[in-house]
Amino acid sequence: MRADELRERYLKFFEGHGHKIISGSSLIPQNDPTVLFTTAGMHPLVPYLLGEPHPSGKRLCDCQKCIRTGDIDDVGDSSHLTFFEMLGNWSLGDYFKEEAIAMSFEFLTKYLGFSADKFSVTVFEGNESAPADKESVKIWKKFGIPDSRIFALPMKDNWWGPAGATGPCGPDTEMFVDTGKPTCSPDCRPGCSCGKFFEIWNDVFMQYEKTKEGTYVPLKQHNVDTGMGVERTIAMLQGRATIYETELFAPVIKLIEETSGKKMSADIGTTRAFRVISDHLRSSVFILGDQHGISPSNLGQGYVLRRLIRRSVRYAKKLGLGMGFTKPVAECIVDNYKHVYPELNINRDRIVMELVAEEEKFENTLDRGMGELDKVLTQITEHNQKVLSGRVAFRLYDTCGFPLEFTEEICRERGISVDKKGFDEAFEKHKEISKQGADKIFKGGLADHSETTTRLHTATHLLHKSLQIVLGDHVKQKGSNITVERLRFDFSHPAKMTEEEIRKVETLVNDAIKRSLPVTMETMTLEEAQKAGSMALFAGKYGEQVKVYTIGDYSKEVCGGPHVKNTSELGRFKIKKEEASSAGVRRIRAVLES
Ligand code: SER
Repeated sequence: MRADELRERYLKFFEGHGHKIISGSSLIPQNDPTVLFTTAGMHPLVPYLLGEPHPSGKRLCDCQKCIRTGDIDDVGDSSHLTFFEMLGNWSLGDYFKEEAIAMSFEFLTKYLGFSADKFSVTVFEGNESAPADKESVKIWKKFGIPDSRIFALPMKDNWWGPAGATGPCGPDTEMFVDTGKPTCSPDCRPGCSCGKFFEIWNDVFMQYEKTKEGTYVPLKQHNVDTGMGVERTIAMLQGRATIYETELFAPVIKLIEETSGKKMSADIGTTRAFRVISDHLRSSVFILGDQHGISPSNLGQGYVLRRLIRRSVRYAKKLGLGMGFTKPVAECIVDNYKHVYPELNINRDRIVMELVAEEEKFENTLDRGMGELDKVLTQITEHNQKVLSGRVAFRLYDTCGFPLEFTEEICRERGISVDKKGFDEAFEKHKEISKQGADKIFKGGLADHSETTTRLHTATHLLHKSLQIVLGDHVKQKGSNITVERLRFDFSHPAKMTEEEIRKVETLVNDAIKRSLPVTMETMTLEEAQKAGSMALFAGKYGEQVKVYTIGDYSKEVCGGPHVKNTSELGRFKIKKEEASSAGVRRIRAVLES
């Protein structure tokens, strides 16, 4: 079964079970300063998992593009990816364990044809915070899964969330398919990383809320949040040993083979290079081509994108691919996915332009790195030494993108070896630090929906409208990011705003606040919303239900909320900074003063 068919079957199946198919969201989270990218289907749904009513009801399903870069250094093995698609179904206070498991089981066995005999599941074993999930065990047994294939595991394996420090979370039950490989040890069981058991689906039962104090209290609304990885599932269905052998990667691999004249399977190093290039450029194409696409930079998401591109360029050099190789590869990826993600085709030129520009920039860094290495090598020779320190080799790797083998090769020509152990140590230390960074941002929590951020959210709508009044209708939201301290708003506008324009916008927002305008919400289809003159940021599916927030006679915008009830709750609006964000995009930071 191909990915196209899997997506369609999944969504149709859940639609048949009363779920509304909703559009997947942007890869760049909006109004959520605590995560860099959307990492799971549930991210954009957090407000609804916390009780905000969803315009499409209580049963939802979708296919969500996700980026996870915590394990970037592991990409190149058979299973780690930085971009993947997640199919998900949700119950927002509707069905719970029994129905969720029944649907998962039915879909896997009847619709995908996985044999129930090859199937293992894991459940939560219980601890002092929450009891063992005996219910799930009972349900799985009812479907004929014997005790010998039900594994109870601790919280670190079978508990999902909260995605932030606090919030909805609960035990999960994960479904594994046996690949038929021999067990790696007597303890080998689902969850083991040897590759015998392949996890394809996770049903999370969000029945608890983790409080600030670290305790787990039962949630009023019992939710179900599930996630099935598209790449992994089709790899299993197609009997492939790795995800790179599926049609989602095959055209790119073929193109790289033809261009480089090398076979992917030639040796371990070559295989790894092929995998890194095709994974990283796929992620880069999706980030650049996103509806809120961003550019490479030295900060946040832009930095992750830069690392992905540079890493693929480095590996491309190993294969002997020349400058500009990103263009045909990116075009191949766009063509392979454009029927599912039309935004990639719409942004095709931008994707190619940014990739090639970053390739060129990196080329210059490489020159600088060569200069630096040359200097160090001369010093070493002058001091009659024979070894380049691991620290220097790692610095060249980290800041100039020099692969260790590349450095070693140059050193060898001058009769110098590289302290590999020192390099590995520096690398491990760096991995530890970047993992901590990734954990921190993840643990920092998802967007909080406190009163302060809610107020800033409403102020953002007023700002958006006021900018259109003062600067013109070409002003469109390009990004929004809200923390408890401030709002940040990116919008299309070709020039720096004058002092006078800034003052005018501030005055308009403050006038709207002073007029104590009511904020109301209606649910309607996207087409109706557009007809009613609402600003809408996303192109959803035809007939999809959306929420429209109206602020008195001032603004009408499609938005998930939440918002204040009346603008009088906002306080005084002040623009703190107006600056360039990227070409043709300006950025405003503003606050509400009480
Ligand atoms: N949120 C869960 C996961 O990411 C289920 O979708 O696995």
